Amino acid sequence: MKICIIGAGYVGLATGVMFGKLGHEVVVADIDKIRVKSVNSGSLPFYEPPLERELRRLVDSDQLVATTDVQDAVEDAQVIFICVQTPSLTSGRIDIGPVKAACKIIAKALGKSNRRKMVVMKSTVVPSTTDSVVKPILERYSGKKAGKDFGLCMNPEFLQEGSALKDSMEPSRIVVGSDDKRASRELMDLYRPIKSKKIQTDLRSAEMIKYASNTFLATKISYSNEIANMCLRFGIDSQSVLEAVGMDPRIGPLFLKPGLGFGGSCLPKDVKALKDKASQEGYSSKLLAALVAINNQQPSESVRLLEKALGSLEGKRVAVLGLAFKGGVDDTRETRALPLVIELLGKRAQVIAFDPMAMANFIKLMPSIRYAPSIAECLRDADGCIIQADWPEFKKLGKKEFSLMRRPIVVDGRRCLDPEKVKRAGARYFGIGYGLAEQ
Ligand code: UDX
Ligand code: UDX
Repeated sequence: MKICIIGAGYVGLATGVMFGKLGHEVVVADIDKIRVKSVNSGSLPFYEPPLERELRRLVDSDQLVATTDVQDAVEDAQVIFICVQTPSLTSGRIDIGPVKAACKIIAKALGKSNRRKMVVMKSTVVPSTTDSVVKPILERYSGKKAGKDFGLCMNPEFLQEGSALKDSMEPSRIVVGSDDKRASRELMDLYRPIKSKKIQTDLRSAEMIKYASNTFLATKISYSNEIANMCLRFGIDSQSVLEAVGMDPRIGPLFLKPGLGFGGSCLPKDVKALKDKASQEGYSSKLLAALVAINNQQPSESVRLLEKALGSLEGKRVAVLGLAFKGGVDDTRETRALPLVIELLGKRAQVIAFDPMAMANFIKLMPSIRYAPSIAECLRDADGCIIQADWPEFKKLGKKEFSLMRRPIVVDGRRCLDPEKVKRAGARYFGIGYGLAEQ
C-alpha cells in the first residue's frame, strides 16, 4: 500500500519506518527542506540510532522517500497519517495551526482524487478536535464527505523517545478510533501484522485515551516526587520505599522514579492541554493543577540540596550534567535543565554544563552559560554538580572524576548513582528523596 506520512518528527518517522518494515511504500512529507534532505540521505533529524539504521535501509532500497511536495505525496497515497506537531501555547492550550495547515493540503488532494483515501490523525489533539476541526476542514476544502468519500480515523501513538522503533513495532496497544466502521476496519487491517492488543473505539475516546495515559504517567512521576520530598525530610531513602510500593501489582514498578520532574514533548504539554480543555468545558481539574505545581518545584529541590552543602551559591562553580529532557536522547523540549539553570543563575552561580548529545539543542535555549566538551572538563574545579539526566555515562562517575572537583559534592537529580559508591569514591552524596546520612 502507498502510505503518506505528514511530519518528519519522532512520531512521523517512527510510523513511516514501521510501515516500511511491514512492506509498504512510504512517502514522508514535510515542509522543512532540511529535514527532508536529511531523511533522504538516510539520517534522522534527531538522535535515535536503531530507528536511523532502519531508516537508512529503507531509503537505500527506495522503500521510503521524503519530499517537501506535501500535496503531491498526498495525491499519490491511499492512506495519509497526520503526524505534525501540536505544541503548547502560553495558556496551555495546544496550537492546532500546523494540524489545520496539513488538513487543508490533504483536502485539496482529496478533492482532486477519484479514489477513496483514508486520513488518519496521529498528532495528539484534545477530545473533539478530529470531528470538530479536522473533519470540517477536510470536507470543506475537498467538497467530499467523511465516511462516504474518504475514511477518517484517530490513532494515537504511545512511543517513548529512545525506544521509538521498538515501541512502534511492538506497541503496548493499538487504538483505532473512528465514527465510520469501514475506515476503522481498514485501519485495523493495516495494523494486522503487528501482534499487539487492538482497541476499536470512536474518535473522541481515541483522543482521550492518549491524554488519560500520559496524565496517568505524569501522576505516577509527581506522586513519586511528593513521596521522595517527604522521605528526604523524614530521614528515609525513598528508593527502597518506592521499590516496595511498586511491588504491588495494582501499582507496578515503572514510572516511580523521583527526580527533577517530567519534561519532553508530551507529558508537560498534555497535562496542560487536558487541564485547559477541561476548564473550557467548565471543569476545574485539581489533580492536573497539582501535577503542574509539583513538577515546577522539583528543580528547586536539587538547588536546595546543593545550597545545604555549599551555603550561598553566589560565585560558586556549579556543573550541570545532562541537558536533554532524559538520558539517551538529544531532545531538549521542556527539559528540566532549563528551569534548573535559570534558578542557578538567579542565585549568581557560575554554571558550566555538559550533555553527551543534547548540547547543540540546549545552546539555542541558553546561549549565555559555559559548556564543557566532556564530563571531566565540566567537573574540573567545580564546587558541586547536579545530575539532571540519567545518561548511562553519568552512572559510571567515580574517584577519577570526583577528584577533579574543587569540592566533590554530587546532587543526584535522577537517582542514577549508588550513594554508597559515591561516598566510597570520596564525594558527598545528596539525592532527590535520599534522606539518609549527611543530608
Ligand atoms: C509528535 C506528535 O505529532 C505530537 O502531536 C505529539 O504530541 C508529540 O509528538 P513530533 O513528532 O515530536 O510530534 O513533532 P516534530 O518533531 O515537531 O515534527 C513535526 C514535523 O511536522 C516537523 O518536521 C514539521 O516541519 C512538520 N510539519 C508541520 C509539516 O510538514 N507540515 C505542517 O503543516 C506542519
Ligand atoms: C512520553 C510517554 O512515555 C509516551 O508514552 C508518549 O507517547 C510520549 O511521552 P517520552 O516523552 O519519550 O514519552 O518520555 P518518558 O520516557 O515518558 O519520560 C518523560 C519524562 O519523565 C522525562 O523527563 C523523564 O526523565 C521523566 N521520568 C520518567 C521521571 O522523572 N520518572 C520516571 O519514573 C519516568
